[in-house]
Amino acid sequence: MHLSQNWRLASVFSLAVSATALAGFKANDIIIRDVAILGGGATGTYAAVQLREQGYSVALVEKNERLGGHAETLYLPNDEYVNYGVEGYFNNDITTKFFSQLNVDYEGLLPGSIISEHVNFNTGERVLPGSEILGTTAGAVLYRASIEQFDYLSSGAYYLPDEVPEVLLHPFREFVEANALQGALDVIFMFAENVGNILDAPLLYIIQNFGITHINALLEGGYIRPKNGTYELFRKAANYIDDENIFYESVVTQAKRNSTGVELVVENADGSRKLIKAKKLLITFPPTLSALDGFDLRKEESCLFAKWDHKNYYAAAIANTGLPDGINVANTNPENQPGSLPLPPFQWELEYSGVSGYFMTKIVAEADFTAEDAKKLIKSDLKRMGETGVFSTKEPEIAAFASHSPETLIVSTDDVRDGFYKKLYALQGQQSTYYTGYTFCTDYSTPLWNYTSSVLDMMDL
Ligand SMILES: Cc1cc2nc3c(=O)[nH]c(=O)nc-3n(C[C@H](O)[C@H](O)[C@H](O)COP(=O)(O)OP(=O)(O)OC[C@H]3O[C@@H](n4cnc5c(N)ncnc54)[C@H](O)[C@@H]3O)c2cc1C
Ligand SMILES: *[C@@H]1O[C@H](CO)[C@@H](O)[C@H](O)[C@H]1NC(C)=O
Ligand SMILES: *[C@@H]1O[C@H](CO)[C@@H](O)[C@H](O)[C@H]1NC(C)=O
Ligand SMILES: *[C@@H]1O[C@H](CO)[C@@H](O)[C@H](O)[C@H]1NC(C)=O
Repeated sequence: MHLSQNWRLASVFSLAVSATALAGFKANDIIIRDVAILGGGATGTYAAVQLREQGYSVALVEKNERLGGHAETLYLPNDEYVNYGVEGYFNNDITTKFFSQLNVDYEGLLPGSIISEHVNFNTGERVLPGSEILGTTAGAVLYRASIEQFDYLSSGAYYLPDEVPEVLLHPFREFVEANALQGALDVIFMFAENVGNILDAPLLYIIQNFGITHINALLEGGYIRPKNGTYELFRKAANYIDDENIFYESVVTQAKRNSTGVELVVENADGSRKLIKAKKLLITFPPTLSALDGFDLRKEESCLFAKWDHKNYYAAAIANTGLPDGINVANTNPENQPGSLPLPPFQWELEYSGVSGYFMTKIVAEADFTAEDAKKLIKSDLKRMGETGVFSTKEPEIAAFASHSPETLIVSTDDVRDGFYKKLYALQGQQSTYYTGYTFCTDYSTPLWNYTSSVLDMMDL
């Protein structure tokens, strides 16, 4: 290369870049931060706010055009809204401290309705309730007593002993029988519905979704929510984090990591690219092989990340259903005993939103069930209820729809026996990379924020 060309190149590319592995970025397109955070849902947003408050610089990379992840709010005229994703947060110090940091006004979360009608969505027929015999509190207390023995799971992380008790790996059905929990299935399903067929899933994954931390929240403080919709938390967080630190509609397409730091190529939906250099990397979305395409995964990482199985999960706000305001219609399947719980793919419940004419629905299905399939299911379930005459339903308008897939990441019982979770947590800090999010800790925001705090502490910035 001629000297003159060299000179021209040096003036275009910063000196820093000539030393990096991922070259070809103009100085303006190189972003240097303490921590790069991937995913701006509950955990990534929380991490960014805490790090900023502690005086560290962050870059938050979010695939969507907004923060919030599973927290989604449909805003309607007249200051009304429907939280059709996350509805509320545990009413404890972890949540209220975060709300106060961001000046988010909050209120107690009350259900849109406490009246439930029971319908078998497969047939459209009205049926008897499943397992309401005990009621929510009594069911939760009984179940709590039976799982207290697994205290190492109580914060919601998979902190398992080296020898995993076999009972945790057996189908939940056996534990229900042994502990006479038939009457508690309603309340358990209310939290663990995302597991799908809970009776045949390992007990471990039921406790992960509804364990001591959830029961304590339910019995002690209940739930709170931001007064102006759950999205309000994220709107205020985005202000706090500052737009210059948030990369919306962006994903990492290449990553090089070692023990001193990371370099990430971030590509925006418009095709523009930036290079982020950070001391630490925090990955908050489920670390699947497809989500980490382009990363310099080591063998131990790709071996673990290849093992995930998951559910698909969709949520929607629907209008014009023909259902009367003020009721919830619970999907109840008398053919599935004990508990009369629905089997995937299912709409869990048509839940009155508290806003006239609007219902919310959550759909749990296997990994091959598409968004189109989910929309068809919403319509056909309502149509069946109309045909049997249980309600005079109409073809609904899907006012808002979201995919939350992949959800409920699980591995086989053999892998759990083989120390999967120990190996997974051992990745924390390797190659300057850290993880949080619902793959690492229970899928509820408040315990996830608590777990995220512990991960930030590990970073030792
Ligand atoms: C419908 C629904 C209702 C729920 N209701 C409640 C509730 O009422 N209370 C409660 O506590 N919990 C609830 N949950 C559980 C909820 O998942 C957790 O509370 C919490 O939101 C999970 O946070 P997270 O950061 O782990 O994941 P997410 O919120 O999913 O955040 C992950 C983020 O990463 C982004 N992302 C994904 N891939 C990439 C990529 N490659 N690059 C960059 N960004 C990426 C996503 O867009 C998303 O913003 C609900 C979940 C669902 C699906
Ligand atoms: C890590 O990578 C950076 C950039 O690629 C390099 O400058 C640094 O020397 C590497 N550190 C180690 C310990 O390999
Ligand atoms: C928060 O996490 C700590 C460990 O970091 C744990 O001891 C504590 O029980 C957790 N609190 C809640 C409410 O889950
Ligand atoms: C409520 O949230 C919406 C959407 O983010 C916003 O436009 C509106 O200004 C908020 N209202 C108040 C009173 O903060």
